[in-house]
Amino acid sequence: MKVHSFTIDFTEYDSTDQLDEGLKTRLKKTEEFLSHAYAPYSKFQVSAMCVLDDGTEVMGTNQENAAYPSGLCAERVAVFAAKSRFPDKKIDKIVITTAKGDDQPVTPCGGCRQVIMEYEQQQQQPIQLVLKAVDSKVWVFQSMNDLLPFAFNGSLLKKG
Ligand code: THU
Repeated sequence: MKVHSFTIDFTEYDSTDQLDEGLKTRLKKTEEFLSHAYAPYSKFQVSAMCVLDDGTEVMGTNQENAAYPSGLCAERVAVFAAKSRFPDKKIDKIVITTAKGDDQPVTPCGGCRQVIMEYEQQQQQPIQLVLKAVDSKVWVFQSMNDLLPFAFNGSLLKKG
């Protein structure tokens, strides 16, 4: 028998003042886009910005529906839009902001982690995640692999 363990590193910033100007601006823009969310049911607004390898920014906000499961999280709206419009560009980072939250940022749901993870594997380059709730600290993860260890990997589907 063997017990395995691992640790996850992420960076916490108490204030956006500790970030570079580019990231500060992107966080501000993502926060401004919270008003584009369509969240009449949960009243939980989320905004996400994909930053591509050439600096292109693709925004997304959560979009809900009266038939609840038909709605989609902000992260997936942004990532699917980015990959539909620019299939050959890599995603460098995703900046995510939630309107509600306490001292700590809100982390993406499992479904979004799985989707982002697959693009990370496809582009063979990690995607940095920058997370913030309006009044919270900022958390930066260097790869989705840190938030979804032991992810299901579609490579087995291609065998046999
Ligand atoms: N939501 C997101 O947009 N991203 C997440 O990572 C978690 C949840 C949305 C989905 C739904 O519109 C609302 O937040 C409440 O779950």
